[in-house]
Amino acid sequence: MSKGLHGHIALVTGGAGGIGSAICQRLAEEGAAVIIADLGPGAATLAGALVEQGYAALAVNLDVSSRASWTAAMADLPAAFQDVDILVNVAGIVRDRTLMKMTDEDWNAVIDVNLRGSWMGCQFGLAAMVGRGWGRIINIASTAILGTYGQANYSSAKAGVVGLTHTVALEAARHGVLVNAVAPGIVETPILATVPEAIRAGWIAKMPLGRPAQPAEIASVVAFLASDDASYMSGQVLIVDGGATTGDY
Ligand SMILES: NC(=O)c1ccc[n+]([C@@H]2O[C@H](COP(=O)([O-])OP(=O)(O)OC[C@H]3O[C@@H](n4cnc5c(N)ncnc54)[C@H](O)[C@@H]3O)[C@@H](O)[C@H]2O)c1
Repeated sequence: MSKGLHGHIALVTGGAGGIGSAICQRLAEEGAAVIIADLGPGAATLAGALVEQGYAALAVNLDVSSRASWTAAMADLPAAFQDVDILVNVAGIVRDRTLMKMTDEDWNAVIDVNLRGSWMGCQFGLAAMVGRGWGRIINIASTAILGTYGQANYSSAKAGVVGLTHTVALEAARHGVLVNAVAPGIVETPILATVPEAIRAGWIAKMPLGRPAQPAEIASVVAFLASDDASYMSGQVLIVDGGATTGDY
């Protein structure tokens, strides 16, 4: 297994979730020390599992939608984990409803976590990287940027994440920090279980590969963007959807 990220420290928001935990596992295998930043006890469980495998890992309680939580989480990092130079904004939620049924709460909750949370992640991440001459910010968007039925809030939030990525890439370049996004199609994780079965089956039926992605297939693209193999890439959105958004989708 490659150790190309040895000496780097990665903070992964939503790191205890389906895609996040695969990203934490992969970045750890690549040699990075990993901070699993999430709500709830799953982060500590994953950190324990990674440490048991011989990797450097730490669980941190973080609500990405709260500036106070970001401030506390970054301030409380132990010395060995303070120099975060890879920040992966993964935390996300859905609250699906068609437009006319969508409430202010549905809209605000999804924008707060997916977009505002990523915006603050970029702020805190870049602040940690400035002056070091090397850094990576990787935002998880979604092919929902193209529009998905019942997801006006989520689609708008993820389209916002793409605009955020382009702009922060411009502003971060002079600090040696590269900023990119990965836009997965459908990935087999717990978030998928919240989508009604009929809708989910319809999505999968249209997929050229006939199956959703496994979380590890998203994690490998994140690992590439974090690595020096991606040293001249910034402001890009890599769509990882098994070809679903090409051709006659
Ligand atoms: N699964 C898919 O099909 C799919 C497709 C495209 C994009 N995505 C995106 O990938 C990311 C991960 O999705 P997933 O499928 O692993 O979902 P998941 O539900 O398994 O994981 C999401 C994680 O985010 C955490 N989280 C939620 N709100 C948070 C908050 N306020 N602060 C900190 N952490 C919070 C959850 O605790 C959870 O661990 C999300 O941004 C999602 O929108 C998922």
